[in-house]
Amino acid sequence: MSRKLELKDIVLIGRTFDEYYKMFGISSIDGKKEKILDVASGVSSFCAEANSKGYNVTASDRIYCFSAEEIEGKCIKDLELTIKNLSDVKDLYRWELYKDIEDLKKQRKKAYTRFIEDFKRKRDTIYIETEYPKSNFKDKQFTVSLISHFLFMYDEHLDYEFHKQTIKEIIRITSKEIRIFPIVNLKGEKSMFVNKLMSDDNFTMYKMQIVKVNYEFIKGGNEMLIIKVK
Ligand SMILES: C[S@@+](CC[C@H](N)C(=O)[O-])C[C@H]1O[C@@H](n2cnc3c(N)ncnc32)[C@H](O)[C@@H]1O
Repeated sequence: MSRKLELKDIVLIGRTFDEYYKMFGISSIDGKKEKILDVASGVSSFCAEANSKGYNVTASDRIYCFSAEEIEGKCIKDLELTIKNLSDVKDLYRWELYKDIEDLKKQRKKAYTRFIEDFKRKRDTIYIETEYPKSNFKDKQFTVSLISHFLFMYDEHLDYEFHKQTIKEIIRITSKEIRIFPIVNLKGEKSMFVNKLMSDDNFTMYKMQIVKVNYEFIKGGNEMLIIKVK
């Protein structure tokens, strides 16, 4: 049986601005000129940090109907569980970006702490409760959408139809491009949905490209998929 990080459901783990910047190769776009949507942003601090740096970012996740205290309680538990499970599969990961498990835990805690603080203040403006594959955003409301650790990664929990409907919806609300990272699943294997999506008749009018990025934590997970919508 192949090994993987065991998670009962999709966990509330969040990443920081620096992590998003590398994962999505944000230096290759004029980020501050874009209207960015963070899809399934959860307890990531990307939105909070980016907006304070002059970017224009909206966050969307199904958990934003809960209170800051409820979210914080769940993400403390999820972080403990993830860290505990990680020690059994430590060798599947590269320990360069993070020195060790303790260092990783510190980064993840930094992300959710910053998120919670921002969420308490801006809950009704930039943290939009959204249950994909549906959303209430307007057609082409955003120029760039970023999808981190949601599609492809959880290909055992979310089936192909869910991937397809979610991507259709993100295409409806995005005018330039969609970036998805990583394209590997929890086992560290390229998700079988990547090639399926790239050859799906529903999407042949969009240029799709796999691009290497300067971020690799799970071994082999150093590529993103770009879907050009324009
Ligand atoms: C592993 S977290 C990733 C968070 C963030 N994107 C990051 O990389 O730091 C996955 C997120 O997906 C969210 N999620 C799961 N299913 C969803 C759905 N159907 N609609 C919206 N969000 C969903 C969860 O609530 C969780 O916050």
